[in-house]
Amino acid sequence: MKKLVAGNWKMNGLSAALSEIETVSASAGDHKDHADLLICPPATLIPGAVARSGSSGLMIGGQDCHQAVSGAHTGDVSGEMLKDAGCSHVIVGHSERRADHGETSALVREKAAAAHAAGLVAIICIGESEAERRAGRETEVCGGQLADSLPESATAENSVVAYEPVWAIGTGLVPSEDDIVAMHAFLRAQLCARYGDAGKNVRILYGGSVKPGNAASIMALSDVDGVLVGGASLKASDFLAIAAASY
Ligand code: PGA
Repeated sequence: MKKLVAGNWKMNGLSAALSEIETVSASAGDHKDHADLLICPPATLIPGAVARSGSSGLMIGGQDCHQAVSGAHTGDVSGEMLKDAGCSHVIVGHSERRADHGETSALVREKAAAAHAAGLVAIICIGESEAERRAGRETEVCGGQLADSLPESATAENSVVAYEPVWAIGTGLVPSEDDIVAMHAFLRAQLCARYGDAGKNVRILYGGSVKPGNAASIMALSDVDGVLVGGASLKASDFLAIAAASY
């Protein structure tokens, strides 16, 4: 399966940061045959990012969407709006939204369904906390989040699962290779139980402290179909180094 290298800029980047998108776009063609590249900038930068990505093959996505199409939801952005702005993907259920905004898997499921209805690929994030891993509950927690966050509309084409252990995000800590392989194999089995053979085609990304230095070894692991990169996606040179490490 072609890897997906996705960048999540989170709440970082003013208009000057669009030059990073330009730099990535300029090299995107070099990687196009081997990996799909996606950057999810903050909402304010999406139109500028879409304009700069042009026909380079670099895709642009949102970091969240509301579960409704439109209406009285001050401050929110809908899937349809992201699609209209030129996005191909949207991240839903990131652990920072689950923690900071109290998002439950039931809500994430509605958001993913809204993304599908808008014609977007939903990147559905799951992951255990440090305490849950210490208690040996990681498969129970991630299995529950996966089952509850995937809507009826999910297919291998319109959905990507991102396994991001909360304790590995922004900390420089990464699970052991054995732990990543075990979790991805578990998630693959869950997807195949639900979707049959099509479950083999759902991309499962790893996220959490992915850097140019560890990207190749992480993406060489079985059932790791790409990465979701936070901090290291902010610099074009780091993001492109991770893209190059994907094949
Ligand atoms: P990080 O973030 O790469 O900075 O750890 C990953 C994420 O939250 O998607």
